[in-house]
Amino acid sequence: NKGKYEHYMQKEIHEQPESLTTTMRGRLIRGGSCKAKSVLLGGLKDHLKTIRRSRRIVFIGCGTSYNAALAARPILEELSGIPVTMEVASDLLDRQGPIYREDTAVFVSQSGETADTLQALEYALENGALCVGITNTVGSAIARNTHCGVHINAGCEIGVASTKAYTSQIVVMAMLALAIGDDTISSQARREAIIDGLFDLPGKVKEVLKLDQEMKDLAKLLIAEQSLLVFGRGYNYATALEGALKVKEVALMHSEGILAGEMKHGPLALVDETLPIVVIATRDACFSKQQSVIQQLHARKGRLIVMCTEGDAASVCVGGSSRVIEVPRVEDCLQPVINIVPLQLLAYHLTVLRGYNVDQPRNLAKSVTTQ
Ligand code: UD1
Ligand code: M6R
Repeated sequence: NKGKYEHYMQKEIHEQPESLTTTMRGRLIRGGSCKAKSVLLGGLKDHLKTIRRSRRIVFIGCGTSYNAALAARPILEELSGIPVTMEVASDLLDRQGPIYREDTAVFVSQSGETADTLQALEYALENGALCVGITNTVGSAIARNTHCGVHINAGCEIGVASTKAYTSQIVVMAMLALAIGDDTISSQARREAIIDGLFDLPGKVKEVLKLDQEMKDLAKLLIAEQSLLVFGRGYNYATALEGALKVKEVALMHSEGILAGEMKHGPLALVDETLPIVVIATRDACFSKQQSVIQQLHARKGRLIVMCTEGDAASVCVGGSSRVIEVPRVEDCLQPVINIVPLQLLAYHLTVLRGYNVDQPRNLAKSVTTQ
């Protein structure tokens, strides 16, 4: 049931304030006079000690689920102090990469049925790793076959392009980082700030959804383009990859997410006056580096669309020529949840304007159960 919406993708984008609320329901503890703010993940509480003792945490997934894990990687590294590595499920299988008993392998999948991820799970089980699932589907193969896990509770997602599951996955993995780091006194203030940020997040997502018309106007400008680049780094490298994946899979436009730190190692050669480039430059520890990326792209006459924090337009607009998307600021590690929303809206409107099927892009299936 699409309710007042024309497409499931549109409905699922706009329902994110509610889906995020459901994801967090009963899992955030407000704290009080004698109790610290904390998170409670029922499915993991008996396994946290084992996870904290592991030598490495390996995220395994495909497509959007991989990107969500990539977005959560920095905060998990920071709060756990454990090395976190990333594996695209098919690539891990192709390489038969090493997985050890001392590893915690985290399988991220909306459907819980993706063939590559499921096969990687069998492989990790054979190798003796602790296997944790993060899925949206109760009773799915990944939920059943992992040792423990967390349901993201985002509600049924119908559009082939994953949107609300992505933001809920990031929130669950941020909560996972908080739960693992819970025994560390030195990071308590940081953790409490993130928990406060989680409480405020649905409201901030509601605010960023007000950019709908602005993104539709931007889509009109980009309707006939061949290609779109998205530059990000740090917490928002994942936003660049995920924004590009959305544009590619539904609007059928070539799009590439680029790690801004790699710009001079190749991508800069593509920059000219015609190719549109989205640069994500919201406030975090990488902001000044992104300002310099903007300057260098501008010096090559790049056609820039800069995503920045509200009130920052003047600090990111060199020469006043770029278009700006201003988004509300949240805690740095949660910013990817906000920043992906305008790009989801852009991909959606581009698709409708270009006359393609939003909910069933050609050649794709919601759940990829064959290899
Ligand atoms: C659970 C209940 C929820 C109830 C809550 C109250 C279920 C599915 N969830 O939620 O309805 O309101 O207690 O305390 O009944 N798991 C895996 N792999 C996965 C995902 C989950 O093994 O990929 C396991 C977990 O380890 C856990 C169980 O499935 O044992 C349920 O997980 P989850 O729904 O996340 O747990 P709660 O949030 O505690
Ligand atoms: O169900 P899963 O999360 O395991 O699916 C993984 C990918 O197939 C999926 O995210 C795919 O990339 C989506 N179409 C992206 O929108």
